[in-house]
Amino acid sequence: MKILVTGGLGFIGSHTVVELQNEGFEVIAIDNLSNSSIDVLDGIEKITGKRPIFENIDLREKSAVQKFFKKHNDIVGIIHFAASKAVGESVENPLLYYENNINSLVYLLQEMVNLPQANFIFSSSCTVYGQAEKMPITEDASVQPANSPYGNTKQIGEEIINDVAKVTNINAVLLRYFNPIGAHSSAEIGELPLGIPQNLVPFITQTAFGLRKELSVYGNDYPTPDGTCIRDYIHVVDLAKAHVIALQRLLNKKNSEKVETFNLGTGTGSSVIEVINAFEKVSGQKLPYKIVGRREGDVISAYANTDKANNVLGWNTQLSLEEALYSAWKWEQKIRS
Ligand code: WQD
Repeated sequence: MKILVTGGLGFIGSHTVVELQNEGFEVIAIDNLSNSSIDVLDGIEKITGKRPIFENIDLREKSAVQKFFKKHNDIVGIIHFAASKAVGESVENPLLYYENNINSLVYLLQEMVNLPQANFIFSSSCTVYGQAEKMPITEDASVQPANSPYGNTKQIGEEIINDVAKVTNINAVLLRYFNPIGAHSSAEIGELPLGIPQNLVPFITQTAFGLRKELSVYGNDYPTPDGTCIRDYIHVVDLAKAHVIALQRLLNKKNSEKVETFNLGTGTGSSVIEVINAFEKVSGQKLPYKIVGRREGDVISAYANTDKANNVLGWNTQLSLEEALYSAWKWEQKIRS
């Protein structure tokens, strides 16, 4: 069965392509290479022995999307990762985010409604919850006004999918990721942040490798046990597997609603200091860091209630924070060697 993975050469996309191929799916990966590298195809092939079909397509070009679907009208499922995802950049350049993240989604959905099977997996984010009142966060926690255009595009995306699914043949699963980290154990694929990493773990591994002088910890005066923010760091391979399970749920018509939503996290919160300590343990390296002021827009704490993902989707995380950090470290060393 042929599956389209948009953003298929990206961080989570590439790991999901591997897991789809492991399950015997034929994968078409499309990507505009704006935040990924064509070499990722080699990495995927080294892991699975199968090179996915690749097409360099920018989903902002409606005609290119139409042409693609004319050529591949036997696709049975779509996993949609392609989007801009840097919170800070979205504040500086909102139109880039609204054009890329919303237009691409609309053009995709416009073509999907003509497919015999329109099974859609959407990459969403826990950022839609903002600072949730209650921890751990359940799927029925209220969606707060977004605190960045990036987060807003995820909220708007979910609303568009709900509206379209109501009146078309589209069945969808919205996957709200917590904090994806780590890399495939083979160190053939991983996170490739361009420029200065915005996210914690790539900044840690680049600092440990000596590319960065020290990590700045954005505030230790939060109302948490050690004063630093708490997040739910989930291994990207566990996250990738959840996408395959969600797709199979739709293909086997096991979904109980046209659109279902699942939080994808480990269910455990870890503070920045706890992540640093865990990294030092698995890498055997001291990590130089300094405490600086808070970062605008950071929530104090966010970690998932995983009951629905565990009991309804039938998915559980298998990998620990330490394993994720170790794989991220191995990957950093590999790409710098
Ligand atoms: C984690 C913690 C920082 C960097 C964002 C998006 C989310 C998803 C993941 C795309 C926070 C602290 C970080 C640093 C630090 N993105 N930190 N020093 O902000 O929870 O989530 O990225 O899908 O949608 O919102 O992740 O890794 O940036 O930060 O102290 O150099 O690490 O303050 O507490 P975040 P993050």
